[in-house]
Amino acid sequence: MEDRSQYQHLEDLRRQVNFHNYRYHVLDSPVISDYEYDRLLGEIRQIETGHPDWITPDSPTQRTGAAPLERFEKITHPAPILSLANAFGSQETRSWFERIRKLDPRVDSARFVVEPKIDGLSVILHYRDGVFVQGATRGDGEVGEDITANLRTVKAIPLKIPVGQGLGKQDAVQPDKFGLDIPGYLVVRGEVFITHADFEKLNQELEEAGKKTYLNPRNTAAGSLRQLDPNLTASRPLALLVYQIVFSEDGQVPTSQWEALEYLKSLGFPVADISRQFDNVDEMIAYTESWKVGRDSLPYEADGMVIKLDDLTLSADLGFVGKDPRGAVAYKFPAQEVTTKLIDIGVNVGRTGVLTPYAVLDAVEIGGVIVERATLHNFDFIADKDIRIGDRVLVKRAGEVIPYVIGPITDLRTGSEKVYSPPESCPACGQPVEHLEGEVAWYCVNAACPEQLVRNVEHFVSRGAMDIVGLGIKIVEQLIEAGKVSDVADLYSLTRADILDSVTKKDRKSNKEPPGKIADNLLEAIEASKQQSLRRLLSALGIRGVGEGMAGDLARNYPDLEALSRATAEDLQEIDGVGPNIAEAIVNWFARPANQQVLAKLQAAGVWPQADSETAPAASGSLAGLKFVVTGTLPAFTRSGIKEFIESHGGQVVDSISKKTSYLVLGENPGSKVKRAQELGIPVIDEDALRKIIDNS
Ligand code: IVH
Repeated sequence: MEDRSQYQHLEDLRRQVNFHNYRYHVLDSPVISDYEYDRLLGEIRQIETGHPDWITPDSPTQRTGAAPLERFEKITHPAPILSLANAFGSQETRSWFERIRKLDPRVDSARFVVEPKIDGLSVILHYRDGVFVQGATRGDGEVGEDITANLRTVKAIPLKIPVGQGLGKQDAVQPDKFGLDIPGYLVVRGEVFITHADFEKLNQELEEAGKKTYLNPRNTAAGSLRQLDPNLTASRPLALLVYQIVFSEDGQVPTSQWEALEYLKSLGFPVADISRQFDNVDEMIAYTESWKVGRDSLPYEADGMVIKLDDLTLSADLGFVGKDPRGAVAYKFPAQEVTTKLIDIGVNVGRTGVLTPYAVLDAVEIGGVIVERATLHNFDFIADKDIRIGDRVLVKRAGEVIPYVIGPITDLRTGSEKVYSPPESCPACGQPVEHLEGEVAWYCVNAACPEQLVRNVEHFVSRGAMDIVGLGIKIVEQLIEAGKVSDVADLYSLTRADILDSVTKKDRKSNKEPPGKIADNLLEAIEASKQQSLRRLLSALGIRGVGEGMAGDLARNYPDLEALSRATAEDLQEIDGVGPNIAEAIVNWFARPANQQVLAKLQAAGVWPQADSETAPAASGSLAGLKFVVTGTLPAFTRSGIKEFIESHGGQVVDSISKKTSYLVLGENPGSKVKRAQELGIPVIDEDALRKIIDNS
């Protein structure tokens, strides 16, 4: 190919790659496959190899491959890089507004912009004639470190932006709608961070490679940018959101924050999509507060919201207090992560005998709650993270999730910390613990272990199982201690006197009802539970791997417990969703003499449901053949209610998402299942959409 046209082809390829890069990393909406992208990039590389003099700093090939640096150079910022004063809660936010209102009457009718305060590393990006030429950390606000080579590897950072006026449409980017001369020199500020999803993926990959995992996305993002080898930075899933024009020359930029965000977006920069403009203080505060509750649904870590006066001229006129501009304030969310001392490690015994370690902590407040205990997940976690007694640990409490230890702050070790060894015997009954081949968990296999029994009974009587209202944990503990209950079937032979003896003094005091009434109500609830369905009884028995969904599957295939107890592992595996592990667990459960005894006692007590209409296979129905997974709280249903509703229309509800799942039904405060569904391309629907599927078929 003739040089001139080959050069044009190269330019065209670069434009294409930049466009696809923008679609993928800024808009989150790629239009070609990774394979096609790599092919385009490969072609550019090939041309550049033949013509090294054609390589420009904004070529997409220049994102990687730079040699490690000896040290970072210093960069003096073209304008001070300011920070923000904090406001904790709506009261302090109002006080901020009142303060600046007194200083300037224009504030009275001012508009505001609310943006997420992304918890990452602040970066300053320089563009000359539309080309990314330099990038720096904030440093002390006057001078930062030159991290250009590292920043080049961040795909969300455009290496080229439009420049001048009347360039017209460049790819998806439409800068000229502002009618401004795009500056020949433009300096913008943003935050580099790692999304929750990418962070989890990164840690998972490190774990699989047997490498040390990272504590949190923020430190990982900051660490990845502030180290000397750009190739290492390139391997980290760094993202970017920009929010400020720091400096401009040879051109014009908007003088309102809202327009600045729109403008930056039009130049091809990623901008937070939850930012909003307000002309009313109450609405502005309400929006800000709504994210205090909703922060966990954001794909990235935000430690607050930033409230800015929209009028940047007014903001500048208001001046600063130290390095904090008066025209903006950071509304801080309560902390979710804190460090504290790990005093000891305790062990809980679950209903299946699983031993779960927990951290005993130096009491610490996290988001308005005093935390003294936090889960440590399992013993492998303690070993993998090298968590030692006496360590300072990072603890997280987010939303409704129980607090958990993230890991130790090893830099703060004094040498007096003690390595932990898992117990060799059950802390509740003293029997030796066992480890199952291929499983992480350690078990207490003593069927008579009192702690397991408490958990078993607790589960048996719970709402989704036999639903015996009023049988609280305290009474259960007393009944077990008094020897009145040694398995769940014993509940059906309790007398009024047994219960009266077990209603503790504390219960008597705290409960408004007289003990006689408590006992009568309880006996009535126990009696009523005999009518519960086979599905509920099956899930109540707490067989490993048999949750509510699996219990329904079993109850659809076997008429009663007697029939199920005769099933072989092969028979069970005929059922969709039953793999060899669950099949074996079910067969083993029924084979145990202690469990046979429980079954005999239940049958004798009249607790022997037959498969009924609730669990009978629905041959027809608008949801027939469809498999649903439900996550989060649904507005109009309880957990078991939604299951019954779906099943009554012929659908099936299963516990976990797989390729076979038809839909994920999403409620409020959903868990990690959404991500899994998205990964597998399973449609996610809400309650209304579910009703529509039923109505339309
Ligand atoms: S504005 C005058 N906006 O929060 C401009 N900062 O001290 C001051 N941050 O470390 C900054 N998201 O890097 C602003 N939307 C946002 C932000 C934001 C995160 C960080 C910033 C700095 C700290 C504020």
